[in-house]
Amino acid sequence: MNMPDEKALRHLNASLNLDSLWIPFTANRQFKAAPRLLVSAKDMYYQTQDGRKVLDGIAGLWAVNAGHCRAPIVEAIQKQAATMDYATGFQMHHPAAFQAAEKLASITPQGMNRVFFTNSGSEAVDTALKIALAYHRLRGEGTRRMLIGRERGYHGVGFGGISVGGMVGNRKTFGNMLGSVDHMRHTHDPVRNSFSRGQPEHGAELADDLERLVQLHDASNIAAVIVEPIAGSTGVLLPPKGYLQRLRSICDKYGILLIFDEVITGFGRTGKAFAAQTFGVTPDMMTCAKALTNAAVPMGGVVVKQGIYDTFMEKGGPDSAIEFYHGYTYSGHPLAAAAACASLDLFKEEKLFERVAELAPYWEEQAHSLKGLPHVIDIRTIGLIVGIELQPMADKPGTRAFEAFLRAYNKNVLIRTTGDTIAMSPPFIIEKAQIDQLFDTVRDVLKTLP
Ligand SMILES: Cc1ncc(COP(=O)(O)O)c(C=O)c1O
Repeated sequence: MNMPDEKALRHLNASLNLDSLWIPFTANRQFKAAPRLLVSAKDMYYQTQDGRKVLDGIAGLWAVNAGHCRAPIVEAIQKQAATMDYATGFQMHHPAAFQAAEKLASITPQGMNRVFFTNSGSEAVDTALKIALAYHRLRGEGTRRMLIGRERGYHGVGFGGISVGGMVGNRKTFGNMLGSVDHMRHTHDPVRNSFSRGQPEHGAELADDLERLVQLHDASNIAAVIVEPIAGSTGVLLPPKGYLQRLRSICDKYGILLIFDEVITGFGRTGKAFAAQTFGVTPDMMTCAKALTNAAVPMGGVVVKQGIYDTFMEKGGPDSAIEFYHGYTYSGHPLAAAAACASLDLFKEEKLFERVAELAPYWEEQAHSLKGLPHVIDIRTIGLIVGIELQPMADKPGTRAFEAFLRAYNKNVLIRTTGDTIAMSPPFIIEKAQIDQLFDTVRDVLKTLP
């Protein structure tokens, strides 16, 4: 690890002023009163500003799938930065972005092979929603303006994403958002499905909620449906067996585009490249980000079926016309593209997706061994993912799980919590002994929680 020495840390601690920065999705006042700062990282570990080595149980934020500061990725970024820092992507482009798109298209489900790059998952979601609207309009079905999301969905923080998303905390402050949006019911059913290993048995029929919305709005008005194959930010909610298949067939019946938001499930997390492959359902579009570059440089993307891209090329006007009025200054940024190429190569060389599939049964056993501990009301697992749901404290939702996070961090293990669910999703290079350390720490913490 490229670690700052003690003197450098002392200097950092003495000189750092926390006032200017407004930290995202964080209780700023609480944080600044007792800051938690990470200063370096290597493989499975972070180093903290107080000199501790912390095991990363969440791959940064479902993102550093190959482990931290991996040499081939670091070197690719350094080389690209010294060769060409930036080039506009509008009416010009550069080779690394094409190479990254080709490598990405080689691991996506069959037929999904055209890629639009963004800089984040939120931008990928908004881009996918815009592609859906533009696609129907080009095909002469411009009445299809409605976008359908799902309760408890998280699709980033752009206005499109929060509109189709279903997390009330992210929506309630921001007024009207996108006009033409509706939501299906979520699939979380702890009464019938608690302590499921992999996909829960019950709830395929919840996909019929889309039929209800078609009856209400009429298919001629609906452009697309967007879901996370596994909802992460509302607590690791797996799709019931048959649910995604049913959603796919209802979309097909009514000509509605199906979008999978694979921002956290992409790049091996479930044991195959994408959750679409794990669950055997191919959407029309997929959003991705995070592990696309192993999180080393921000990058997101939308992967679409070739037919969607071809529609833009065939119906988007004369050859000199811009077919899609959309893009970001940094779409396909050279450093991001170089990081993506190196990451996708590394995943393949080290067979990291296969490693997830190999480790998954051990992971599942360790996770479910927490059943019966105080406060645990559900455990949900797949691939290298676990959600451990705790009984909320009366009148203080989220407090018990956050306390677990703080206590685990003090015991040198980084976990994440969302509501009262502890979520873990480590880098794929994790060893069995480190899996033991993660779950043993959570076990110890659970025994002492208020
Ligand atoms: C499913 C899903 N979509 C979109 C996003 C937003 O990605 P970003 O934070 O890169 O904008 C996230 C982030 O966690 C996510 O989990």
